[in-house]
Amino acid sequence: MKKLVYGLAAALALTAAGGALAQSKYPEKPITMIVPFAAGGPTDIIARIVSENMSKTLGQQVVVENVAGAGGTTGITRALTAAPDGYTIAMGHLGTFSAAPSTYPNLKYDPINGMQTIGLAGGTPILIVAKKDFAPKDLKEFVAFVKANPDKVNEAHAGVGSVSWTTCTLLKGQLGVPKLNSVAYRGTGPALNDLVSGQIEFMCDQIVSVAEQVKAKTIKAYAIASAERSPALPDVPTTKEAGLPEYQIEAWNGIAAPKGTPKDVVDKLVDALDKALNDEGVKKRLLDLGTVIPTAAERTPDGFAALIKRDADKLTPVLSAAVKQ
Ligand code: MLT
Repeated sequence: MKKLVYGLAAALALTAAGGALAQSKYPEKPITMIVPFAAGGPTDIIARIVSENMSKTLGQQVVVENVAGAGGTTGITRALTAAPDGYTIAMGHLGTFSAAPSTYPNLKYDPINGMQTIGLAGGTPILIVAKKDFAPKDLKEFVAFVKANPDKVNEAHAGVGSVSWTTCTLLKGQLGVPKLNSVAYRGTGPALNDLVSGQIEFMCDQIVSVAEQVKAKTIKAYAIASAERSPALPDVPTTKEAGLPEYQIEAWNGIAAPKGTPKDVVDKLVDALDKALNDEGVKKRLLDLGTVIPTAAERTPDGFAALIKRDADKLTPVLSAAVKQ
């Protein structure tokens, strides 16, 4: 009996040591952060800024991999069906986590019940932007032009279910022009190139990738769809100021991992994201691009999960109807 008790104690001690060892070891190799869009778009920009700092905290490189396709759902599927060991995570957003489930009936992932949230990385206000020589001078003229000339306007987006698609779908619904011609890209990075070169007329996009171009006047911004102007683009009016108060939508980006990722691994990733968002250099880079830095509560796994669900509940009725049209 004594022998058995000692044996058990030894086994327990070993297990505990093993657990502690496992906890202290992660990460032992580079971590892949999948960006489900092409390089140069908002998701890619935020992922690269945040991952660089997370790498320092984690002591291993967080490597961004762009896996574009199907409005971001290809890359997110790849990330969320990977082994739940913390070595594959994803930078998703309002589109991939809150909009895609209502636009892809056969989606292979479930952002509400089937993934592990790490945290919100940034709020990303939405801008209605157009090629610089597009005839309408302001938002009111834009609305009138689009309604009068639907055949002369091409809208760019990053695929069905992406943020640009979702936010422009809401806009087109409100303007009564749901069938406006739209062109899908592998991300709004490449779409922005075509907007700058004047091959498409307009798009709705997250401030992060368009702010610099708006400042440089290579494209123009009609309005920001938030309650307040952005400090990054103080001259751009809100949709309320510009005459379209009903068009308000907030986008965001955040990190998730496969469901079943061990708690100690999740905790390390959460801590690394938190440290990145508290870093003065990271904050400045994000703020300069118009990103809204999440509060401590908003960036927790639970805070982020609640945001995903809140926005999915809001978007599902509108988007389910839109994809049936
Ligand atoms: C989107 O429209 O979903 C994003 O702008 C895509 C991207 O990050 O390129």
